[in-house]
Amino acid sequence: MPTKIAAGNWKMNGQQTDISELQLISKAADQLDCRTIICPPTTLLGNATKFCNEIFIGGQDCHPKPSGAYTGDISANMLADMGASYVIVGHSERRTYHGENSTIVKAKAEAAIAADLKPIICVGEKLQQRESGDAIEAVSLQIKGSIPTNSEIILAYEPIWAIGTGVIPSFKEICQMHDAIRALLTKNYGSSGQKISILYGGSVKPSNAAEIFSATNVNGALVGGASLKSADFIPIMRALAKS
Ligand code: 13P
Repeated sequence: MPTKIAAGNWKMNGQQTDISELQLISKAADQLDCRTIICPPTTLLGNATKFCNEIFIGGQDCHPKPSGAYTGDISANMLADMGASYVIVGHSERRTYHGENSTIVKAKAEAAIAADLKPIICVGEKLQQRESGDAIEAVSLQIKGSIPTNSEIILAYEPIWAIGTGVIPSFKEICQMHDAIRALLTKNYGSSGQKISILYGGSVKPSNAAEIFSATNVNGALVGGASLKSADFIPIMRALAKS
């Protein structure tokens, strides 16, 4: 069975004082039968790993190279050195605003694995691809281009049009996409593909979490806005543990 994962992506949000929110999330995670991962901004990694022992910490991006003259970048080794266990790669905001294609995303995922981090590889279709009926094909192409040969990964399906909008795909659309992703991962990795956690991301809230988690091949969520406050994120963690 894939591990159930409640993951939070804080994006470019959070100050040192917000570690108290992380501590509340960490305390709640101790009681629950699911894994909680929070990916805070790099500036909070040190205190997050120091003060939040019941959750796993991840980075939001890494460079494909272990070190070098790349001003402003951070390597997977550096994240591991800070105590991180995971790293998000290929988020649509990186693909869109930083021009990252699947070849780069795959290189980043490989760098993460080489540094003993588990990559959370993000994929997701644009609105026009959904509307023209090409969503599954678009996501399949991204997956084929972005996943490394090593199956120690987490896959996050985040339809771009659902991120931060309050709009989510129908339950049927979520099921169809996650079933197609499971089939592709199984084709690619054999039986290890059946153990990969597939997360849904895009406007997950306490109000819709239980229904989303009831889909067979949804093994958790990658949550943006609703992961910033413990009062929003803890109910999502609870819904996942109960699913
Ligand atoms: P929201 O939950 O704010 O829609 O963001 C989703 C996301 O991009 C997580 O990586």
